[in-house]
Amino acid sequence: MIFCFTGTGNSGYVAEELSRLLGEQLYMLEHEALTGFGRRDFNDSRIIWVFPTYSWGVPPVMVGAIKASRCVNPGAVHFMVATCGDDAGLIARQWRRLMTAKGYHAAGAYTVIMPNNYTLMKGFDVDPQELMYRKIEDSAARIATIADAIRRSDCDDNVTSGKWAWFKSRVIYPWFIRNAMSPGPFRADHTACTRCGRCMDDCPCDNIAPGNDGYPQWSEHCALCLRCYHSCPHHAISYGKATADKGTYLLKRALKKHKK
Ligand SMILES: Cc1cc2nc3c(=O)[nH]c(=O)nc-3n(C[C@H](O)[C@H](O)[C@H](O)COP(=O)(O)O)c2cc1C
Ligand code: SF4
Ligand code: SF4
Repeated sequence: MIFCFTGTGNSGYVAEELSRLLGEQLYMLEHEALTGFGRRDFNDSRIIWVFPTYSWGVPPVMVGAIKASRCVNPGAVHFMVATCGDDAGLIARQWRRLMTAKGYHAAGAYTVIMPNNYTLMKGFDVDPQELMYRKIEDSAARIATIADAIRRSDCDDNVTSGKWAWFKSRVIYPWFIRNAMSPGPFRADHTACTRCGRCMDDCPCDNIAPGNDGYPQWSEHCALCLRCYHSCPHHAISYGKATADKGTYLLKRALKKHKK
C-alpha cells in the first residue's frame, strides 16, 4: 500500500509510478480520505509513505497522518519516499522517529528531486523551465532505482541531505512550523478572480470556501501545500507581498506544455 500526500503533483506522480512498478495500491491522502484516515485499519505487509519535503522535514499534515495511522500488521515493512526541490536535510531521521513511536518497522528512506513549488518567502521561486523539465526527466530513472531497492527490501537511506542538514532540520524546521505555516496571508485578488471555485474544489484539506461575496476564503486547516496558489488559472491568489512576481507550477500543466 502506498499512502501519498501531494500539493502540486510531484509526490502524486512519484507515488503513481511506484504503484505501477511495484503493483502496490495507491491511497491518496486528501479530502475525506485524509480526515478519516485514522478511522481505518490497514493490514498490508508493505507500506510506502510518499510526500513532499517541507522545510527539511516531514510536512505536519503527514506527521498527523502517520500518528493517526492504524497499521495492524506487526510484520509490515515501511518505506519513505520524499520529494524535494533541492535537498531534504535529516528528513529520514524524523520519519524514522515517527515510525519507532508507532512501533512500525522502518526499512529504507529515499528522496526524489522534483521541480520546486515553494514561493512564499523572499528569494524562493519556481524553477526556470529548463531546470524544471530536467528534474522531471531525471526523476524516471531515480524512481526506478527506488522501486528496485523497495523490491529488495533494502534498509539503507538514500537521501539528498544537502549542506548544513542538521541546522536546517533541527533549527529551521521547528521555527518554520511555528512561524511560517499560517494560511492567514492568502488572498484572492478580486479584480483577477472569476469565482470559478477551482481552488475551493482542489484543496486537499477542504480549507477554502466561498464567502458571502462568492470569493474564496481560507480557514485554518491548511497544509500549506500551495495547490490553491499554483492551480488558480488566473494567478489571482497571493500570499502577502511574498508572491508578487513569482511563478506558478503544477506537474500536470508542465507535462502538458512539454508534450506540445
Ligand atoms: C511549505 C513548503 C516547504 C518546502 N521546503 C522544501 C525544503 O526544505 N527543501 C526542498 O528541497 N524543497 C522544499 N519544498 C519544495 C517541495 O518539497 C517540492 O517542490 C515537492 O516536490 C513538492 O511536492 P508536491 O508537488 O507533491 O507537493 C517546499 C515546499 C513547500 C510547499
Ligand atoms: S481558482 Fe482563482 S479564479 Fe478560481 S475562485 Fe480560486 S482564486 Fe478565484
Ligand atoms: S488552502 Fe491552499 S495551501 Fe492550504 S491546504 Fe488548501 S490548497 Fe493547500
